[in-house]
Amino acid sequence: MPLVVVVGLGWGDEGKGKVVDCLSDGAAIVARFSGGANAGHTVLIGDRKLVLHQLPTGLLREGVTGVIGAGCVIDPSALREEASILEAEGAEAWRRLRVSPHAHLVHPCYRLEEKADEEARGAAAIGTTLRGIGPAYVHKFSRTGLRVEDALDHRRFRDVSLAMAERSGTFQGLHEEIERFVEDSCAVALAADDISSTILTALRDGKRVIAEGAQGTLLDPDSGTYPYVTSGSCVSGAACVSLGIGPSRVDEVVGVVKAYATRVGSGPFPTELDGPVADYIRRRGNEYGATTGRSRRCGWFDGALAAYASRLNGCDWLALTLLDVLGGLDSLKVSTGYQGPSPAFPVLGEGLSVLRPLYEDLPGWEGEIAGARGWDALPEAAQCYVLRIGELSGAPVRLVSTGPERSEVIWRSP
Ligand code: IMP
Repeated sequence: MPLVVVVGLGWGDEGKGKVVDCLSDGAAIVARFSGGANAGHTVLIGDRKLVLHQLPTGLLREGVTGVIGAGCVIDPSALREEASILEAEGAEAWRRLRVSPHAHLVHPCYRLEEKADEEARGAAAIGTTLRGIGPAYVHKFSRTGLRVEDALDHRRFRDVSLAMAERSGTFQGLHEEIERFVEDSCAVALAADDISSTILTALRDGKRVIAEGAQGTLLDPDSGTYPYVTSGSCVSGAACVSLGIGPSRVDEVVGVVKAYATRVGSGPFPTELDGPVADYIRRRGNEYGATTGRSRRCGWFDGALAAYASRLNGCDWLALTLLDVLGGLDSLKVSTGYQGPSPAFPVLGEGLSVLRPLYEDLPGWEGEIAGARGWDALPEAAQCYVLRIGELSGAPVRLVSTGPERSEVIWRSP
């Protein structure tokens, strides 16, 4: 049975939570392989809206084991709080959670380090989520970080955690928080497991495993719009590294792409809109950050960036989300590339902000498609729009999400 990797093709917020939730039905394991409390995966079940930041979305399905990979960075106190919210909803989240002993922990002083760093950047600030993500990866790679397995030795872990705060000069303000961090880290350490072996055993037993990405390809530190990116790898290849699985075990890569583009924080965004259309999309798509509540920047679908992201992840097929949001607009635009000669390699740095998109007009459709049951129930203009996105991205769209509800999806056969 397959290992399916799910990744975002944009700047995050593509609706991966809902897609992973759909694919988790019948899966044995859902494993988060990147990011930390910076993510916000929203799933609507009936009238209950659940936003998961660190826990794998699969925990919302009974019987699914949730795994957190070594490539993630864990805020232990926020993780426990999140689990208790799910438990209050009747999901036995903590008992079904397995954590890589090699995942790094987000020490409370990292958030202060990050705040100081963002302030020092002034106008060039990245606009991070201020969850301490960047410093957690900095400490990981400078080999000064704290890992889940370190918290198996309570006394030593407490000493090291306090010393870390002393060194960073943040000890005074953080004493209580650090004591809580130590307790919560020790609780997380009890969920440590050999996740590579757990996943490979499930696959050998014919079970289905979903590797759940966070953020999106354009926020990846290697492949995204550097320096306006996050700090952990979020492309499909990172699933193997984070979960301890060889690339030969991956059966399918699913790219989640939005029917339009959004971005939070700073950085280039060639198809960005300003004015009534952006406001319309923002309002209908509820484009406000699930983690920080920040208003998201909105724009047209960018075919060149989607094709780049799809190629880079090796997408077998695409899940197109938030199509319903575009209903009611007379005409739509999609970018098919940029003006001027094609560069020899994808431009993703500051150079991206001066590129002028080439647009193609497509007809809009009237009315709401949220209740549409099946491909044939979609207006013709909506079908054309979906097919064009698949062509521009270089991978077929197999799943179309037409509303926030779990049931609002349309499957298209190849
Ligand atoms: P960080 O991940 O908090 O360091 O933030 C770095 C950049 O990535 C900022 O522009 C954030 O807004 C963005 N970012 C991080 N996580 C997400 C996410 O889950 N969705 C959308 N943007 C994100």
